[in-house]
Amino acid sequence: MTADNDSIDCDQRREFLAACSSAALCGFATALAGGEALANAPSSPGGHARRLYPAALLVDERGAPFNGRSLQPRTNYLFHFPFVATPCLLIDLARDVGGVGRGCSIVAFSAICSHQLAYPAKEVSFIRFQAKASTHSEAERIHCCADHSVYDPAQGARVVAGPAPAPLAQIELSYDAKTGNLTATGLRGTDQFDAFFRKYDFKLGMEFGGRARDLVGRTSQLQELTRFCRNVAQC
Ligand code: FES
Repeated sequence: MTADNDSIDCDQRREFLAACSSAALCGFATALAGGEALANAPSSPGGHARRLYPAALLVDERGAPFNGRSLQPRTNYLFHFPFVATPCLLIDLARDVGGVGRGCSIVAFSAICSHQLAYPAKEVSFIRFQAKASTHSEAERIHCCADHSVYDPAQGARVVAGPAPAPLAQIELSYDAKTGNLTATGLRGTDQFDAFFRKYDFKLGMEFGGRARDLVGRTSQLQELTRFCRNVAQC
């Protein structure tokens, strides 16, 4: 973790937003973010257990550290963490949402929909961030077009519409203020990994040859979703 003042503020706000992501309390996040509010914030019904995993530096397609300052705002980025087969979405919302980065604006979530486990695969992704409003969703939402579950990435990916029973699990990131490097370090919330590996056992076996549950290791490639997926659903 970085030690500059901006990062400390981001950390405090992130802790608070994580604690309230599925509660009505979220509407007060901006007004209440502070030490006392952090200490008193309630847990969500699904719990917000924090799991640390071996840190994975996010790297570009050449293997060089990805500079978080070069992220395109409100754009879908994809990486895999903590396992080689489990995808995550990373978004710079370009406003302070208690994330990381110079503007506390960068957030990441496991991209496995909590409804029926749609996820970004190479052939297609039904789940993605949408910057603009659509028939089924407001602007700046993570929307799973499979059955129209909608999550708010500014509020810990809490469910705001559709059949999803739980928020997306949040990926903990650290940001190096000197270099702009981003590192995935852990996960908070209810993940879908067991159900995901059960449901897609055969498909993942074919794709990863028995390595699907391996940890990503020291680096994970970050790239725009449209470079990873041949078809990104629109809805
Ligand atoms: S799998 Fe995402 S809404 Fe059904």
